[in-house]
Amino acid sequence: GRHFLSVEDMSDDDVMAIIERGCQFKAGDTPRVEPGHVAINMFFENSTRTMISFQMAEHRLGMKVLDFDPGHSSVTKGESLYDSVRTVDAIGAEVAVIRHSTNRYYDYLLSTGMLGLSVVNGGDGSGQHPSQCMLDLMTIAEEFGHIDGLTVAISGDIAHSRVARSDAQILARLGANVVFTGPREWMDHDVTRLGTMATLDEVISDVDVAMMLRVQHERFDAGPDFSATDYLQAFGLTDERAERMKPTAIIMHPAPVNRGCEISGHLVEAPSSRIFEQMGNGVMVRMAILEQVLRARETQ
Ligand code: CP
Repeated sequence: GRHFLSVEDMSDDDVMAIIERGCQFKAGDTPRVEPGHVAINMFFENSTRTMISFQMAEHRLGMKVLDFDPGHSSVTKGESLYDSVRTVDAIGAEVAVIRHSTNRYYDYLLSTGMLGLSVVNGGDGSGQHPSQCMLDLMTIAEEFGHIDGLTVAISGDIAHSRVARSDAQILARLGANVVFTGPREWMDHDVTRLGTMATLDEVISDVDVAMMLRVQHERFDAGPDFSATDYLQAFGLTDERAERMKPTAIIMHPAPVNRGCEISGHLVEAPSSRIFEQMGNGVMVRMAILEQVLRARETQ
């Protein structure tokens, strides 16, 4: 479609098309869109990977990229998200990649029918992170050649994680066995109903993918008693747990990583870690997403 908002809007074929196109770009395929389309990246929550890899994807598609920094914009004078997006639309942006702390911020943006530009969701609150989901799925599919039948542990702060929400929805739909581990108070039935719950110790020797999530201190107060060392021992990927993984199993993490909290620091660079491959694949799937959005606009 002309927007890219949530994995809930995507069919299995839509998902596979993005992953396959991401793999084609990685193999060197050239874009199937005219150069010169105009993008703007509006990140109201901080980002390193998502914002910079969208920038890279836009450049590789020959797009022109406008700058937007909320801290130096008229948002500081009270301008709303809606008025900000209508403004960049009026100025000529064709695609706005938006990250915002409000879940489903895009519903209101699109409800008036006044926007000509396409919205690409770079993450909404604890809602969805659909481009992260595509890069995670591409990384898993590249590794194993399939998704169906794999056992994927998603570990940690499930309730606050838009990555867990998007990934679990698509992994379950594509036939993976999803297991959630972590503190019981960080589970959310809305997500955990998509799989089963266990401790990391119970499942670590069976998993194909250990997907560790960041403890998101900006979304909740873990309390003065929170100890990274204690969390690692109780719920994280320690060296001892990593040694019990199958030789074919891989470690993933959306990053940024709290080294020594959800994962033992040096495991980030272990041979079985795909954390930096995930970031590289992020550029490829974001090229695929933007190409698909631009092509949908061309055919309207
Ligand atoms: N994985 C991810 O979304 O990272 P950033 O917050 O740095 O974009």
